[in-house]
Amino acid sequence: MTSIEGDLPSIEGDQQRSDSLSVIGPTQRLLGRVTVPGDKAIAHRMALFGALAVGDTVIHGFPPGEDCRATLEVVRGLGVTVDQDGDTVTVHGTGPAGLREPDRLLACGGSGTTMRLAAGLLAGQPFMSILDGNAQLRTRPMDRVAAPLREMGATILGRAGGTLAPLSIQGGGLHAIEYQTPVASAQVKTAVLLAGLFAEGRTTIREPQPSRDHTERLLRAMGAAISVTRAGAIRIERSPLQPLTIQVPGDISSAAFLLAAAALVPDAQVRIEGVGVNPTRTGIIDALRAMGAEIRLDNERSEHGEPVADLLVEARPLHGTKIHGALIPRLIDELPVLAVVASQATGITEVRDAGELRVKESDRIATIVSELRALGVAIEPLADGFRVEGPTPLRGAAVAAQGDHRIALALLVAGLVADGATTVSGMDSISKSYPDFPAALALLGARIEAAVILPVGLHLAPMSPAALGLADGR
Ligand code: S3P
Repeated sequence: MTSIEGDLPSIEGDQQRSDSLSVIGPTQRLLGRVTVPGDKAIAHRMALFGALAVGDTVIHGFPPGEDCRATLEVVRGLGVTVDQDGDTVTVHGTGPAGLREPDRLLACGGSGTTMRLAAGLLAGQPFMSILDGNAQLRTRPMDRVAAPLREMGATILGRAGGTLAPLSIQGGGLHAIEYQTPVASAQVKTAVLLAGLFAEGRTTIREPQPSRDHTERLLRAMGAAISVTRAGAIRIERSPLQPLTIQVPGDISSAAFLLAAAALVPDAQVRIEGVGVNPTRTGIIDALRAMGAEIRLDNERSEHGEPVADLLVEARPLHGTKIHGALIPRLIDELPVLAVVASQATGITEVRDAGELRVKESDRIATIVSELRALGVAIEPLADGFRVEGPTPLRGAAVAAQGDHRIALALLVAGLVADGATTVSGMDSISKSYPDFPAALALLGARIEAAVILPVGLHLAPMSPAALGLADGR
């Protein structure tokens, strides 16, 4: 899909693009077919796993966001050649023996997944490396991966008693452990499994609830000695990986914003093509259906053990629901936009068991509550979630993403149903995962305006599909 940055009119002189976008609502109609960027979780994993295989791992549909680019840079920092041609990335894997001690910091940007997964890989290597991140990532908890990796024999130092980045890792000489993670986190699970690939003996990990299982599926597809017991314990032993060629399915966590938009706008019919529908990720579909939305799966297929489908969504009258327990890890990244949907549903929607929201790119309980209240949403924070009472008419206002891409994207969706202009500042944050979302909304029929700062003052440039160089989607 077209990138917004490239499509804004080019203006000579000393100007800069503001990082605010306005949605002019209410939007009456959303119509068309779209694709979404490749799944971030799968792309991070393929880049790292490809570095451990001997031979070329070819990743088609690699997402454009900054997070996955950070993972590619980490892989390059370990001496592995990575080529990119459009959205196809080739990792020229040399196997673990080909990895070399990095002579610089491994910069993870703002990507928690990059840092936590790389920590597991590096714990298995007989050299020293340092993982660093931006100011936001340096505040996010790293003890959840450092603790089990230390138990396996790695030496990991970090700020705040070894709990915050930068993390220095002296790896190698690992032994297997049996580990029960206190949080249902696929990042922790993957870090332990990656270290387990290099440990003496059989490593076992158990989770309080199942988290996304891309690591298990992809490592199996690459020939690793990995198995999952009936009780859900995951076991891995030292084993070589074979390279893989894969088409990354569309990211359901990005599609979620379109699903929510189409569930909210009165006259909506949207088809999202080629989306990953791994059951450990489809909590958003279950929750929206439980609220009354019409979502159908079409053209179902599989890509190396990862289920893929086209999603068709239409607006229906919505009602509140309870979201808790084992559903939470299956839609953890989608909770900000679900709060927006809940504001238009009749009755109460309550989200519990989601304390993990507090340690994402922002404290998402606090940011959702403060920004949605500014638009008129009746929302109360809870220690481990939030409670929304609907339906409430929303009124456009100035709101802020607070450095969090999923808050920025959710606020644009809220703008579709709010009356007047909803101006979201901090839109640059969406370059992390879904830079083309405003273009996709415009393509489907929403009215989006970008504030552009010109040398002579502040102007608004319309962002119609035509301005974006996109054909009318109808
Ligand atoms: C991810 C796992 C989730 C999710 C994150 C990506 C992954 O985090 O929120 O966006 O790729 O493994 P946790 O594992 O910390 O829950």
